[in-house]
Amino acid sequence: MRKITASMTCAALAICAQGASAAPGQPWLNPSLSPEARAQAAVGAMTLDEKLRLIFGYSDQAMTELAKVPGDVVPAELKTYVVTHQVKGSAGFVPGVPRLGIPDQTQTDASIGVRNSFLPSTALPSSLATAASFDPEVPRAGGVMIGAEARATGHNTMLSGGVNLAREPRNGRNFEYTGEDPLLAGTMAGALIDGIQSNHIISTIKHYAVNDAETQRTTLDVTISAEAMRQSDLLAFEIAMERGQPGSVMCSYNLINGRWGCENDYLLNKVLKHDWGFKGFVMSDWGAVHSTADAANDGLDQFTGFCCVTDKPWFAPPQFKAALQSGAIPQRRLDDMAERVLWALFAKGAVDHPIKPAPVDYAAHAAVSQNAAEESLVLLKNDRGLLPLHGVKSIAVIGGNADKGVLAGGGSSDVTPVGGDHKINDRSYLPDAPLAELKRELPRARIDFDAGNDAASAAALAGSADAAIVFVTQYDSEGYDGSLQLEGNQDALVAAVAKANPKTIVVVESGGAVFMPWASQVPAILEAFYPGIRGGAAIARVLTGKVNPSGHLPISFPASLSQLTHADLPGLGLPGDTPVHITYDEGAAIGYKWYDAKSYRPLWAFGHGLSYTSFAFSDLAAQGDGKGIKVGFSIRNTGKRAGRGVAQVYVSPADWNKAGWEAPKRLGAFSKADLKPGQSKRVELTVDPRLLATYEAAGNKWHIRAGDYRILLGDSSDVEMQRADVTLADAVWSASKTVE
Ligand code: BGC
Repeated sequence: MRKITASMTCAALAICAQGASAAPGQPWLNPSLSPEARAQAAVGAMTLDEKLRLIFGYSDQAMTELAKVPGDVVPAELKTYVVTHQVKGSAGFVPGVPRLGIPDQTQTDASIGVRNSFLPSTALPSSLATAASFDPEVPRAGGVMIGAEARATGHNTMLSGGVNLAREPRNGRNFEYTGEDPLLAGTMAGALIDGIQSNHIISTIKHYAVNDAETQRTTLDVTISAEAMRQSDLLAFEIAMERGQPGSVMCSYNLINGRWGCENDYLLNKVLKHDWGFKGFVMSDWGAVHSTADAANDGLDQFTGFCCVTDKPWFAPPQFKAALQSGAIPQRRLDDMAERVLWALFAKGAVDHPIKPAPVDYAAHAAVSQNAAEESLVLLKNDRGLLPLHGVKSIAVIGGNADKGVLAGGGSSDVTPVGGDHKINDRSYLPDAPLAELKRELPRARIDFDAGNDAASAAALAGSADAAIVFVTQYDSEGYDGSLQLEGNQDALVAAVAKANPKTIVVVESGGAVFMPWASQVPAILEAFYPGIRGGAAIARVLTGKVNPSGHLPISFPASLSQLTHADLPGLGLPGDTPVHITYDEGAAIGYKWYDAKSYRPLWAFGHGLSYTSFAFSDLAAQGDGKGIKVGFSIRNTGKRAGRGVAQVYVSPADWNKAGWEAPKRLGAFSKADLKPGQSKRVELTVDPRLLATYEAAGNKWHIRAGDYRILLGDSSDVEMQRADVTLADAVWSASKTVE
């Protein structure tokens, strides 16, 4: 796919404003100095009150609520500044220091686009959907696009880059994240962040860390070993941060091993800032702060999202000053906090390229979203080549509000789409209706719609048509965990339609995994996740063969509840903020790793995805390369259509228990190849040494055990097409990038 660059977008939108120029005595405005030097110089020029402005942020609600907050918490002058400078409807605002040329931080959610009910925006497919593309160029292009919209609408900070692993398949926010595997999730989230920040704005990776369920999210205490974290959730963050270099990190609501995410010396000071050498700042999730001195000393740099009189103003000027005066927080720590915020603003270009509202080319942006969907739809099943549709004169389209639009997830990533959404039961349907798009693609076919409320009438319509397409939807949202069982009568509806018409195709719009008790009764299933603002077109083009599907699952679909690592969601049904606890004793064995370790067969395996053509792999070669492994192989399109094949390289110790692994195999590398019929390509990949190692808390080290390892090459985690063996020597190295 063609690379979209920020400079192209800037040129197209004419939004690249000139940066502030350095006046004598203002060295921090000199772009030739390092961001560190600039941040230090700026802090050196600041008063105490100016430093304190940078570490306390306001939510959108503050616009209306701040007036009620006492003046000794937020001084009148600051209130006026916030209310007059905030972008109406945006997630948050942190005042800058105009005297010194330091801009305000104007913060907008989230990973699929600018979320603001006053600003129609382009919605990408859900992050889980774009992870299914297995091509980092897809989220990168999406990031370039949504970052350009953020800039053009007055924002210099996006709260984007969700990378919590899909440890819990019911997690209501899995759709905001990038799947269950640390390499895939980290690569895709890192690419999104990189794309966003190419617009000279900050992107905020979130929610750090192990915030893997929504039930009682503000009080859930997660027990998990350091080893397991470093090999799973933290590895996803580590990879995403290496690839995306985000300016900020959002700490999470939950507790990890008894300490709040935003007050966690181990996660914030030790791992993030020391071991990974993170130079930017940690902002809190909205309402996730519980103290002043402990939070600041344990690594929180910015209290973000202060809303109103009922909110505890832990980092407000008077509270913070008192903690400084008593010595509970050292002065040096405040300077460090301010420097970190400034480092991000300088390093990411937010100071040198101030935001300037500009027009947006929404048609071009919709095309980026459509391409993302077309790269990401996953064809799960296609018996006897039913798809792409051919020779059908009449089609019954059933259910899923397919006449209205495509479903989107709820919560802080619920973008108000260009063209307006349909709200049905408070759920957003983005405006691109699959029914209309199918009619556009198949102008000569008779296409009738049945809403699917009554299975018998839907089945009657299906029985009278050449083929039936049933749309099923599963709504997920921030704030609660979902069910894996489709809502309402949808399972019965599919079964009834399948009985009436043997050519029944099911299109699933879901946040994550769902059960499909009818899977064996229908010949074709397309998983669309939440496919974004052009999702209807993408679905229609895949079903009709204009687009050859190439998405592969970024998560496993469990076959039953008995396959889950945890039967219960702690605190489900109890009043909000009830303290609850979970021990993640599966450790790093998440998703396919868990299924492999337990010898379970999921409904659909991680990495699975069909094409209208076929691919073959050959000539696999693997050899040790430093601590990692170099892998080379050929991929060939053996079918009759052009298509994009996804090669997945799994690594597996001869004896995984002896090697100390959590599971028999791990994804070690992947690549997507665009091939014409008969065309082949040689692919060379490297397996990151951390994917061959275990983490040892004693000594803070990665360790590869000497022995024989297998390289398994295929196009799904459950399909092995080629195998090679490699013998690795013992290797131990520090997990810290900071040289002591
Ligand atoms: C969410 C964050 C979001 C923030 C601001 C919180 O409730 O967890 O993901 O960025 O709100 O809207």
